[in-house]
Amino acid sequence: MRKPFIAGNWKMNNNCQTAVELAAGLALQLKEVDSVDIAVCPPFVYLQPVANALSFSNIALGAQNVYAEPNGAFTGEISCEMLRDNCCTYVIIGHSERRHKMGETDEMINKKIATAIVSGLLPIFCVGELLEQRKAGKTQTVVADQVRKGLDGLGVEKALAVTIAYEPVWAIGTGKTATPEQAQQVHKMIRQLLADIYDQSVAQQIRIQYGGSAKPANTAELMAKPDIDGLLVGGASLKADDFADMIKTAAETQN
Ligand code: PGA
Repeated sequence: MRKPFIAGNWKMNNNCQTAVELAAGLALQLKEVDSVDIAVCPPFVYLQPVANALSFSNIALGAQNVYAEPNGAFTGEISCEMLRDNCCTYVIIGHSERRHKMGETDEMINKKIATAIVSGLLPIFCVGELLEQRKAGKTQTVVADQVRKGLDGLGVEKALAVTIAYEPVWAIGTGKTATPEQAQQVHKMIRQLLADIYDQSVAQQIRIQYGGSAKPANTAELMAKPDIDGLLVGGASLKADDFADMIKTAAETQN
């Protein structure tokens, strides 16, 4: 049985004060929840203050990106070691905004995933098709290709450190959520692919989150699907009440 995992991707939002308030509010509202793994991913510059606000809470910290080199002349980049130093457990890798707005390639993403795991971080590895790819009937091939390339060369042990987030690009920040059936269809395909690459036991252990306009109103129906193991939440994770509500709903589907 996979424990649900819900992570909030704050993207480039909040200031220091609102970030700390949001984290402190979540820590308070979610202190009783132990059947869901929870993380928030603030901008790099607020990791430390948010870590302080989350100390002694059951909410883990994640970053939104990382660079694959350990140190050196990479102006503006942040290493895995630096994230570890700032209390991160997780790191989002290959988010569609980084793929499509910052030009990240599958090869870069693969290298980041491998480096993150070796450094002791747990990657949240994002995949998802564009609207035109869905309309052209290419969803499964596009997503399968991203999964294969992202996990390329990772043995079983490393693969088990990964959470995959299926985020159809047309559903991100648009208010258009994939139907639970559309999401389940892709999640099932990803799990089958994991069984092909590794084996059935590995496929059954790796968590696959859904992301793309997930909100309190659609959490229960998404989480009810057999291959949806959690959510990667953007907009709704910026409101403590909404994000806490989603996590409590996911916890109830466990009981
Ligand atoms: P959204 O973003 O929930 O605002 O659609 C999800 C994500 O980009 O991770």
